[in-house]
Amino acid sequence: MYTKEQTQKLQSVTKKLLKEPGSINDLRDVLRFHEHRYYVLDEPLISDFEYDQLYKNLEKIEAETPELRTPDSPTQRVGNSLNKEFVTVPHLVPMLSLDNSYNADDLIEWDKRAKKLINADNIEYSAEPKFDGASISLIYENDILVRGATRGDGVAGDDVTTNLKQIKSIPLSAKFSDYGIQRVEIRGEVLMTRQSFKNYNQHLIEQGLAPLANPRNAASGSLRMKDPMVVRKRSLEAILYHISYVAKSPNKKLDKALDSHSGALEMLLQLGFKTPAKQQEVLKGIEDVVDFCNEFEKKRDNLPYEIDGIVIKVNNVELQQRMGSTTHHPRWAIAFKFKARQATSKLINVEFQVGRTGSITPVAKIEPVHIGGVTVTSISLFNPDVVKEKDVRIGDTVLVERAGDVIPYIVKPLTELRKGTEKKIVFPKNCPVCDDELVKPEGEAVLRCVNINCEAQVIERIIHFVSKDAMDIKSFGSANVVKFFELDLLKDIPGIYTLDYEKISELEGFGQKSIDNLKTAIENSKTQPLHRLIFGLGIRYVGETTAKTLAKAVDHLLDFEKFSLEELQNLEDVGIKVAGSIYQFFHLEDNIEMIKKLEKLGVNLKNTNKTVEVDGKLNQQTFLFTGSLPTLKRSDAEEMVEKNGGKLLGSVSSKLNYLVVGEDAGSKLDKAKKVGTIKIISEEEFLKMIK
Ligand code: IVH
Repeated sequence: MYTKEQTQKLQSVTKKLLKEPGSINDLRDVLRFHEHRYYVLDEPLISDFEYDQLYKNLEKIEAETPELRTPDSPTQRVGNSLNKEFVTVPHLVPMLSLDNSYNADDLIEWDKRAKKLINADNIEYSAEPKFDGASISLIYENDILVRGATRGDGVAGDDVTTNLKQIKSIPLSAKFSDYGIQRVEIRGEVLMTRQSFKNYNQHLIEQGLAPLANPRNAASGSLRMKDPMVVRKRSLEAILYHISYVAKSPNKKLDKALDSHSGALEMLLQLGFKTPAKQQEVLKGIEDVVDFCNEFEKKRDNLPYEIDGIVIKVNNVELQQRMGSTTHHPRWAIAFKFKARQATSKLINVEFQVGRTGSITPVAKIEPVHIGGVTVTSISLFNPDVVKEKDVRIGDTVLVERAGDVIPYIVKPLTELRKGTEKKIVFPKNCPVCDDELVKPEGEAVLRCVNINCEAQVIERIIHFVSKDAMDIKSFGSANVVKFFELDLLKDIPGIYTLDYEKISELEGFGQKSIDNLKTAIENSKTQPLHRLIFGLGIRYVGETTAKTLAKAVDHLLDFEKFSLEELQNLEDVGIKVAGSIYQFFHLEDNIEMIKKLEKLGVNLKNTNKTVEVDGKLNQQTFLFTGSLPTLKRSDAEEMVEKNGGKLLGSVSSKLNYLVVGEDAGSKLDKAKKVGTIKIISEEEFLKMIK
């Protein structure tokens, strides 16, 4: 897409624009270039902060001179209003399904039929992954993205243009005209990577909400969100793999790239789209296709997102046209489906588990079933709402899915197989472990046991503390936690560091070697970085990301004792609810005592990763600049804030501590005065703060 020379040129323009104002066109070009580097190539060349600075400069110029704003400007992704009803729009060409194949014989049969149809001895194929997301269609007219739609019923879908514009790997404009194209409809898939899906679900679970079933549902649900800003935050990707319609520019010839599928993919790649080009191969006959499919199936989990098969396409577009389509699928393409990660099983019983925060989770016990290389026997049903929505019953035959490293889940009960003897799932009134009465806190989907000394909670807290993503004490594992707890060898988190190894050595299965391994793992955990300890403490709503934010904010864990609610809320992504929970945790005597015990036992409570350059004079304080400053350049002043441990905010809100005001300050000053809690200072006062 960008040649080496162009890259170097744009990078030097970037440097210039970071220092001094430049033309609106340069700003746009540079921003588009960096979006492509970051979102399509995953190889950013500037920091997020620098990108934001350039973006803000562009926003400012466009606000001052709205007539210079263009529809493909990087600022135009942001939808500033909610989607009302999604309008149904017809596709230029129906979005068909694909015919399916499941083994080599199916593929060989299909190849035979294809050859007969076009009277050929051999056919060149193109093969690429079959992405398991939400299908979309995009229309570009005169190089501008004018419409994006969901598949819908294949003939017409929902107009989700505003939401699709939030996905930064979708270019708002692309030089199709260079290929002789005036109007084009392209097809692809919106995906959520497994990592983003995991993070997102973790976030939902921490909020006491039911997680989404799989990345596919997460992607398709995202496209239909009312608020485009929510879509923006969901780290979605779009991979484009098919051109379904082209209209030629007047007086131009269509480029030769369009003669083949592989050429079309290469063109899309050159135009700045994410495509399957890296994984796609042109194959000379069906035998090679079979090999490709078998080899790829082994690698399916190496990709960052879910794929459920391979799509094989006749590479030559003229042949594709000769072969045509049925009403259901094109005859020139077929999907090779990987082994299903779905199976049916019988729901035998439901047990109720108590989590570390007291949440009661219904867990379905099913007849063992083999899916995707593992045997599944238990599946979480999360909360009463999920049970109600799925209407699963004890005795039901259920459809179970397990995709990649995603936890297994029940897709649905097969109601047509019901005999009438199935029983509804009834939730207990009392904790199955400590028998305390359960409560349903307002606004939460779960039932809770609020007895913090409930044994089940204590055990779960220890299991969480030693787990891989927390303190990562490898030889421990949940089975040992439960065993030691039941034998009175371990009763709380600090107890991990005072285990009686002599007694443990008397237990079956604990030879010298396993004891040594356990000792080393426990010893090593003492020097884990602070964010792992914070996450391990199991503070409600504090997931791995928030734990990292918290760790960065202090020198020592107990500094949090002094944090006010407001200071906590000023931290990145910490809202009222999370701040409240952290505040409460560090104001409970028992917790402080436990932390002090851990320190005495040698566990690191210090933030050892803190960058030395950060002076910390402005630690935790947030700043925003407005108007032109008398002596400092805006970018220099902002850099000073960051260097001194402060944070920059993009707009006036209650999270802002200081508004530094220069000459001709506008609406930000008025707004800040209205908020009331923001200190309004001059450049001179700001400089004094960091002296
Ligand atoms: S080509 C006219 N290529 O799978 C056929 N489709 O189950 C154009 N899909 O409807 C589709 N990955 O939404 C094509 N690499 C890929 C694909 C792909 C996923 C979707 C597509 C299709 C569905 C059929």
